Amino acid sequence: MTSHPIAVFDSGLGGLTVLRALRERLPQEDFFYFADTRFLPYGDRPETFLRERGVLIAEALVARGAKALVIACNTATAAAAEAIRAAIEVPVVALEPGVKPAVGLTRTGVIGVLATTRTLASERFQRLVGNHANGHRVIAQPCPGLAEAIEAEGPDSAAVAALLDTFVAPLAAAAADVVVLGCTHYPCVSAAIARRMPAGTVLLDTGEPVARQLERLLAAGNLLGGGEGRLTVATSGAPASVIATVDRIFGQKLKIEHWEP
Ligand code: DGL
Repeated sequence: MTSHPIAVFDSGLGGLTVLRALRERLPQEDFFYFADTRFLPYGDRPETFLRERGVLIAEALVARGAKALVIACNTATAAAAEAIRAAIEVPVVALEPGVKPAVGLTRTGVIGVLATTRTLASERFQRLVGNHANGHRVIAQPCPGLAEAIEAEGPDSAAVAALLDTFVAPLAAAAADVVVLGCTHYPCVSAAIARRMPAGTVLLDTGEPVARQLERLLAAGNLLGGGEGRLTVATSGAPASVIATVDRIFGQKLKIEHWEP
């Protein structure tokens, strides 16, 4: 089992921002990254759909030999993490918007959270804020269309700029000094978000802590190591267009295969 790959999935390519942190921390591991591009965006889909899709994907990844699973998508975590944990037996790392670390960092007492509509509407997110906001003001700003526009138009496109103008303005107006990037696509536009906030605003993404948690779980299960740093990337969409999108967003020419869970 130790030599088996770690599976990572997202609705699309946002999870590659998490994968980068995972591969930096665990360079000896093999990874299988799955972009469920055919169903992007997850952010506007019903919770029941995401739960069923998440379980289907997780089971198929385990059947393919994954020794651990990282749900590199806040939206899928919010809807499906519990069902996925109940359905499979390998260690699961799920990510959630970094509200907890934000509380320790804010000085103005105002925290902005950018995420999908589905993530922010979830019980899981409400619970996270209820348990950890600790009297601070948390402005939850849904960003419908943003993940999709990043993939379809590119991070530097006019469409993305217009969406960011709309979504970031309320956080700047409320004097938020920490902005939580609560969707794995948003680190692709972190510089553009930072430009719309006052200097010194802290932007938080979850790649690092997720990598540490994965390492802990692998160590606890005696599953650490055994790979060769290999990466396989697959999509439920059309590989040719995903290859072009990865190149545009990350400047990387990856080989991508088609895979249907
Ligand atoms: N990358 C996903 C997340 O972290 C969502 C993007 C989408 O709406 O599909 O929430």
